[in-house]
Amino acid sequence: TGLKDYYKNDFLIGTAMNAATFTDNDVALQQLIAREFNAITAENAMKWEVLRPELNKWDWDISDKIVEFGTEHDMHVIGHTLVWHSQVPDAVFQDDAGKPLTREALLARMEEHINIVVGRYKGRIPTWDVVNEAIEDDGQWRKSHWLNIIGRDYIAKAFELAHKADPSAHLMYNDYSMFLEKKRQGVVDMVRELKKQKVPIHGVGMQGHLGISGPDLAEVEKSIIAFANEGVRVHITELDVDVLPSVWEITGADIATRFDYKPEMDPYRDGLPAEKEEQLAERYEALFKLFIRHRDKIDRVSTWGTSDDASWKNDFPIKGRVNYPLLFDRNREPKLAWHKVAAVPAAV
Ligand code: G3I
Repeated sequence: TGLKDYYKNDFLIGTAMNAATFTDNDVALQQLIAREFNAITAENAMKWEVLRPELNKWDWDISDKIVEFGTEHDMHVIGHTLVWHSQVPDAVFQDDAGKPLTREALLARMEEHINIVVGRYKGRIPTWDVVNEAIEDDGQWRKSHWLNIIGRDYIAKAFELAHKADPSAHLMYNDYSMFLEKKRQGVVDMVRELKKQKVPIHGVGMQGHLGISGPDLAEVEKSIIAFANEGVRVHITELDVDVLPSVWEITGADIATRFDYKPEMDPYRDGLPAEKEEQLAERYEALFKLFIRHRDKIDRVSTWGTSDDASWKNDFPIKGRVNYPLLFDRNREPKLAWHKVAAVPAAV
């Protein structure tokens, strides 16, 4: 029995899959993922810079393997992500002479990319993160090449193009820090405008890159409710819980000392003390109790990775840390947090 079975009456339970799981033919991890989850997202394989490192050079290898894995195990595959400011080669926004593209030329390139990628997996990727991280934490629209060259209708165009490429796909807007008041309002305003324009947007993904003691779950709950009130489904995407003190906490608030930081300064490099394991488990339990309370609004909860050893939090924002943000430990064993999460539905 895996988490997907405990939550089968509530919402999909997902994880992100990385390239190594396939290039290393990590069958044990593949079997664990198939047992535990019924949704998968490519951690990097479907990003523009990985899928299409040059405009005429495609690398479908890992992306195809993830879709085949999902199809084989009857899992919901989420496509991540079509239009994003990050991990997109600069050449995408330039003409052959290296000059910025015109609005029409970039729209044509966006259309071509969406048609090729969504078209390839039509009917096999039921959900797309169409636009990722387009709003800043203060609620303003991020001044990306997409916005600067195309203008404010680039988001609507992306959704319309994705819908045309696969009319059956559930189309989402995905972003982080969605519990901040100004960010929440910026996303609400954008979704409301898109819905008014009859743009095919069906869901909002709230990335769950959270800390062990923040943000306040009341703010997370306000956002779940606010987005659902705009008539879209809510997905908790990219959930992980950073249990380490921040660099600031380790080196003091002075910016100069921040650069003295070395990962060796990190606590818990040899393992997480019992009271921290407990604290992490209680944080995950509280999160899933909140999610299950709003299961009428939430379609999916996905962690950003499966086991601690492969989490991006070991290397972001700083390389070489030893972090413990997920539900399975460095030996791929379920943690106390996994047990607490598994027990939530029965206690409802
Ligand atoms: O695969 C290459 C490898 O060949 C190369 O040797 C190595 C060193 O340059 O880089 C490897 O690629 C790295 C890739 O992760 C795979 O490990 C990229 O440099 C690195 O930038 C990339 O980081 C990813 C990051 O997004 C940036 O795309 C993280 O794995 C991934 O967890 C993170 O995920 C993002 C979501 O897509 C969007 N939401 C935020 C989240 C966290 O930043």
